[in-house]
Amino acid sequence: MGFRIGFGFDTHRLEEWREFWLGGVLVPHTKGATGHSDADVLIHAICDALLGAAALGDIGTHFPDTSEEFKGIDSKILLKKSCDLIRSEGYTIGNIDSTVVLQIPKISKYIPEMILLLADVMGIPRGSISVKAKTSETLGFIGREEGVSAYAVALLDSRS
Ligand code: CDP
Ligand code: ZN
Repeated sequence: MGFRIGFGFDTHRLEEWREFWLGGVLVPHTKGATGHSDADVLIHAICDALLGAAALGDIGTHFPDTSEEFKGIDSKILLKKSCDLIRSEGYTIGNIDSTVVLQIPKISKYIPEMILLLADVMGIPRGSISVKAKTSETLGFIGREEGVSAYAVALLDSRS
């Protein structure tokens, strides 16, 4: 079968006085993302890209937001479980590229730590993970600081 590509997207609301988990890092901000788990939008997009590449559904299929088991869960656990699942299906992870769309705060200084953490959880080299950041140029819900989105692509290899 060879190479398989996957794409993931996620959005979460931003609300005041919530923790803001992004790429496994607690980002200091006046607002944080809300959701059933820790609402880590970047990790969720990466999980969906990995699962999508293996045609294994999405994060909601495997970790339903109706389940008490996943309430407030650290998304790094969901990422580890997603990686275990795709490896059990015979795939190896090639590389991940991703973009976070967030008006404020600037997150570029946290990206090296995100990459370190994600590489460790996923069991792949740091050089195989890319995280980028964009504002929405003040447009739309992201521009109004009401939400955050993330996009990710993943490449899997089933030959080795
Ligand atoms: O310049 P361009 O319109 O392509 O991008 P931008 O949305 O103005 O963002 C400029 C740069 O700021 C990005 O390339 C990121 O390095 C950084 N950035 C960030 O660190 N955190 C954000 N929340 C958004 C952007
Ligand atoms: Zn999510």
